[in-house]
Amino acid sequence: MSEAPKKLYIKTYGCQMNVYDSERMAEAMGGQGYEQVDSPEGADMILLNTCHIREKAAEKVYSELGRYKGLKAANPDLKIGVAGCVAQAEGAEIMRRQPLVDLVVGPQSYHRLPELERQTRGGGKAMDTDFPEEMKFDHLPSRPKPRRGPTAFLTVQEGCDKFCAFCVVPYTRGAEVSRPVSRILREAEGLVEQGVREITLLGQNVNAYHGEEAGHSWGLARLIRRLAEVDGLERIRFTTSHPNDMEDDLIAAHGDCAKLMPYLHLPVQSGSDRILKRMNRSHTAEHYLRLVERIREARPDILMSGDFIVGFPEETEADFQATLDLVEEVTYGQCYSFKYSARPGTPAAERPLVDPDEADDRLRRLQDLLTRQQRSVQDAMVGREVGVLFEKAGRLDGQMVGKSDHLHAVHVACDLPVGTLARVRIVESGPNSLAGVLI
Ligand code: SAH
Ligand code: SF4
Ligand code: F3S
Repeated sequence: MSEAPKKLYIKTYGCQMNVYDSERMAEAMGGQGYEQVDSPEGADMILLNTCHIREKAAEKVYSELGRYKGLKAANPDLKIGVAGCVAQAEGAEIMRRQPLVDLVVGPQSYHRLPELERQTRGGGKAMDTDFPEEMKFDHLPSRPKPRRGPTAFLTVQEGCDKFCAFCVVPYTRGAEVSRPVSRILREAEGLVEQGVREITLLGQNVNAYHGEEAGHSWGLARLIRRLAEVDGLERIRFTTSHPNDMEDDLIAAHGDCAKLMPYLHLPVQSGSDRILKRMNRSHTAEHYLRLVERIREARPDILMSGDFIVGFPEETEADFQATLDLVEEVTYGQCYSFKYSARPGTPAAERPLVDPDEADDRLRRLQDLLTRQQRSVQDAMVGREVGVLFEKAGRLDGQMVGKSDHLHAVHVACDLPVGTLARVRIVESGPNSLAGVLI
């Protein structure tokens, strides 16, 4: 008789790459007799896959760990692990601050998770925060999890060499590494066999992808064109891109590759050249605006998305105004905006902060503008014909929900199966989603 599976609970914070990594960790532990569960109660192992990008994100981890005291008291065999970017940034300090933690594993060492888990069995602690040469998931025997829906993430590139002055990612994820083309293709084909119709290629700097294929280096555009040949794969997206790596053939692909969706997340962070320079972004506002213009020439209906930081050290009202001006000029369909958070170890951490009330006020003003733009871009979809990939049943009976080509949530009265890609005419724009009818 085989043993009953042990229960693994994973809680994921941060970016899409963490979502992808959590799935891979579940698969790796699946090979060790662990089955993923939806709640920490009764689990044999709890893994927090953490994010270090802003102070608030990092501090959440400790409050969450505190909640597991009772569980650990009730079950001394419960293993608690911290993975992700806090694990990489804080290492052994995590176990000192919270002795409940048995295991710390950095984002590049997940292939060692089964071994680390074994080390903790006798009551010991285990830690690995190295940056090994090999890509973590490329040499790992694991048990693939059944897919839940028609969309999936696929990491193609990891790490960052850009060193923006505010950002922890180059330290937590290490230097830029690209996975070989053949691995990505195999993974994509496997996903499609399991019913996946849309793949989002992930990388901290995904458009800096330069993967090896038969002695040649392929850029992201070439990879996308090759993936577009995979039968059954209907849609391709990628995130997150850096303006400086937006090469001509990638821009062209937005115009001539039908499976590449008309949505681009291209963070600019600020509209002020003075601040961009202090951020070490190595592009100007003008360079970014020209780029957006060229992308829109290739694909006129592309929906632009971005990230902004307000209250970066030394940001004046005039600098902030330049950010508002840039937003006005671009017209974004969707954005993320953040108040600057000083991160230990980054160059900007030493610089004097903007008055916090002033920064709050700027964030509010920027978000007001971005929300207005988002709403008007969404409203402008009414009357248009778009593709919708159905992901699940809607809240109302007889209704399905899916994402449009432009990544808007769309409700449609129909009973088409999950995974169907249908043509839909948009008839209404609500606060957070669109409504459409089948064509
Ligand atoms: N690789 C991506 C995104 C990295 S993190 C890129 O290059 O754009 C996601 C977003 O978090 C960033 O785009 C930035 O807007 C924000 N961010 C990063 N560090 C931050 C900090 N110290 N304070 C506030 N926001 C930050
Ligand atoms: Fe961070 Fe800049 Fe790299 Fe993006 S490009 S991950 S913001 S250092
Ligand atoms: Fe956070 Fe690490 Fe992603 S810091 S945003 S989880 S790369």
